[in-house]
Amino acid sequence: MLVASIIGQGTMEKKVVAITGASSGIGEAVERLLLAKSFVVVGIARSFQSKVLQRVGPDLFHIHCDITKTDEVAECFQSIFSKFQHVDVLINNAGSGIAATVEDISTEDIDNELAINFKAHLYCIKAVMKQMRQQKSGHIINVISVGGRLTYPTIPLYDAAKHAMLSVAESLSWELKPWGITVSSIEPGAIKTHFGKNMKRSSGESDYKAYYISANQGFARMYKKPQTPEHVAEVIYKAIRNKGWKYNTSHKDLLRVAAYRFLPKRWYDAIIYHYFNL
Ligand SMILES: NC(=O)c1ccc[n+]([C@@H]2O[C@H](COP(=O)([O-])OP(=O)(O)OC[C@H]3O[C@@H](n4cnc5c(N)ncnc54)[C@H](OP(=O)(O)O)[C@@H]3O)[C@@H](O)[C@H]2O)c1
Repeated sequence: MLVASIIGQGTMEKKVVAITGASSGIGEAVERLLLAKSFVVVGIARSFQSKVLQRVGPDLFHIHCDITKTDEVAECFQSIFSKFQHVDVLINNAGSGIAATVEDISTEDIDNELAINFKAHLYCIKAVMKQMRQQKSGHIINVISVGGRLTYPTIPLYDAAKHAMLSVAESLSWELKPWGITVSSIEPGAIKTHFGKNMKRSSGESDYKAYYISANQGFARMYKKPQTPEHVAEVIYKAIRNKGWKYNTSHKDLLRVAAYRFLPKRWYDAIIYHYFNL
């Protein structure tokens, strides 16, 4: 739905998009693209300084928020609503990974991984859904991962959180349909961002050392020709235009998901064992 917002000198019909994880990678690329497409963009991240909405460009606003903290999420969206009275699109994009086997991952990191890749997105969704229902329109876009459909070695908790998010997104799509609210799932594979560098990793000094080394070689191969965050941004823009449910960002990922879904487990395991030298 197009709504009127008072922007700068005049009144323009612009959609307001809030995006988490806008300080780097995919989020930053989406921010740039949507500004070019005449949206009003509110970027949310921990590295933005101001805890109140700060205008950083004619149609660009930034706000500091750690989305794993419910009080910060409440304040953040209150600040957004008091400025715009509505949000047309929420893009749940923030995320981070931990590479560790189930035995090696600490209980604290289990919580952290579920907090940022799953629970935090629910906090943001819950912050906008009532308003979207009142508007009788809205779009919730979840940047999940191909890891929401299948599982790769050494990142079981990351993939588990993404599976959980996908499951909730599917349920939400049914719950919110009567109010004309769309829910979409974006499922990228290997993308060239700071994600890998920021990933917390087990020291590898455990009985799983050989497993980590082999899996890392597989990931290195997978990330040899990554896609760009700009490509993912275009896919997200397509989702905003077409309001579809599921968007992969590469044909290779589609094939991987199909293999996972349709091959007998021992055949699929053989592919994983071969690809990751396990
Ligand atoms: N890169 C890939 O290969 C790939 C593949 C599949 C899916 N994805 C998904 O794509 C999404 C974006 O990742 P990216 O690749 O663009 O990685 P990135 O460059 O590391 O960006 C991650 C973003 O999340 C934000 N963030 C992390 N923790 C946060 C928190 N507690 N509160 C608020 N913001 C937080 C970071 O900002 P601050 O640190 O400033 O808070 C940053 O802006 C993630 O959901 C990721 O799982 C990535």
